[in-house]
Amino acid sequence: MMKIGDRTVNLAEGDGSFAGGLVIEGGRRLEGEIKVQGAKNSSLPVLAAAYLCGGESVIHNCPALSDCYAACRILSSLGCRCKREGSTVIVDSGGTEGFSVSESLMSKMRSSIVFLGAILGRTGRCRLSFPGGCELGPRPIDLHLDALRRLGVRIIEDHGVLDCTSGERPFHIDITLSLPSVGATENIMLYCALGEGETVIYNAAREPEIADLAEYLNRCGACIRGHSSSTIVINGVKSLHGCSFGVMPDRIAAATYMGACAATGGELVLSGVSSKDMYSCMSVFSEMGCGVYPYLDKLYISAKKPLRSVRTIRTTPYPGFPTDCQPIVMAVLCRASGTSMIVENIFENRFMAAPELLKMGADIKLEGRVAVIEGVRQLLGARVRAKDLRAGAALTVAALGAQGTSVVSNLHFIDRGYESIETVLSSVGASIKRV
Ligand code: EPZ
Repeated sequence: MMKIGDRTVNLAEGDGSFAGGLVIEGGRRLEGEIKVQGAKNSSLPVLAAAYLCGGESVIHNCPALSDCYAACRILSSLGCRCKREGSTVIVDSGGTEGFSVSESLMSKMRSSIVFLGAILGRTGRCRLSFPGGCELGPRPIDLHLDALRRLGVRIIEDHGVLDCTSGERPFHIDITLSLPSVGATENIMLYCALGEGETVIYNAAREPEIADLAEYLNRCGACIRGHSSSTIVINGVKSLHGCSFGVMPDRIAAATYMGACAATGGELVLSGVSSKDMYSCMSVFSEMGCGVYPYLDKLYISAKKPLRSVRTIRTTPYPGFPTDCQPIVMAVLCRASGTSMIVENIFENRFMAAPELLKMGADIKLEGRVAVIEGVRQLLGARVRAKDLRAGAALTVAALGAQGTSVVSNLHFIDRGYESIETVLSSVGASIKRV
């Protein structure tokens, strides 16, 4: 039993199970310094690339997340030796020729589709299941498969199982993506890095994580140019090797802690960040009335003044406002005076935090891809459920600024993307514990 707001609730009511959650006593200003974790969305493709490159790779600043653990289990199932020493993961993929990934491993993490290009590039074969949709909506991979087919790969799709075999690869090929898909860009890079031929990707994704993957591959002997722009040129090479590499900072985790600071009227220094990757997020927090000051690898944020609503936020591919920050900013805007509007252009179902925020007293109206948020004076603690990774982070941010006690359950979603979030937030004054 737990007292939440003015009610006493049984955490295990309903189906009697309680998937584990965070108990948060809101209303405490966050103050102090947070060292921001390595980027989940860079470490995952880099771990896949460690299979492609062979040899031993030492990957530093690799966050301790359940998604990274899942990626290491896939590598082990392919015959690699993986071990973690603190924030360093050592992958030895020499002498392995595995090409099949079990359904149980694939179902742990949607983004494991990025292993497709790496396994195919290394062995010429790949067999894996792809369960498709997830919390954010259908997760199509048509762009991945179309590109690989144009690169000569024979793909048989049978009830969610992909059976792929490399074929004759064109000496030169131009691939134009109909939308700048992060995963499709990564899969093409991973498949084309090793072997003959030049591949040019037009309308490639420009996310910083793409550049990080290209940097890792080039350090392993690949020849990739143009990453960070929308035209990437990959010249296949005869062989690759392992290397030592440091994963870039997680810009979404950094933005999440900015949200926690804004929601509690706090003052934080975020260290180990790359502010140049965060301009669109920083400008939104500035517009809300926060003081945001980047300096070298640190970012200072303070929220001394009452928050103001911001004009329309539209999520777009990088360098626009990132969809992954949208739920977190929505949670902060719930208490910003005035009316804010968010348009979610990337995923079909990315307002999963909204119904849970309403339980805390938020005023949010959803109309298709548009959310209209009327700022309220106070949010009240409540028992809420995370329904996806960033929605869970958003509810945590809202609970930190709410009056009273909240319980955010389905903690496994949050653990996919945040390294011991309760330890990090407690270190800067939050009253938060894992149950
Ligand atoms: C990556 O997902 C990230 N995941 C996501 O972060 C992020 O939200 C997304 O990029 C957009 O920035 C990882 O890097 C592991 P996309 P990805 O391919 O690669 C459509 C998080 O919270 N599409 O750029 O799956 C797709 O449906 C996660 O950390 C197709 O239609 O994103 C979506 O609407 C969530 N066909 C849009 O493109 C395809 O073949 C963007 O998808 C591929 C994608």
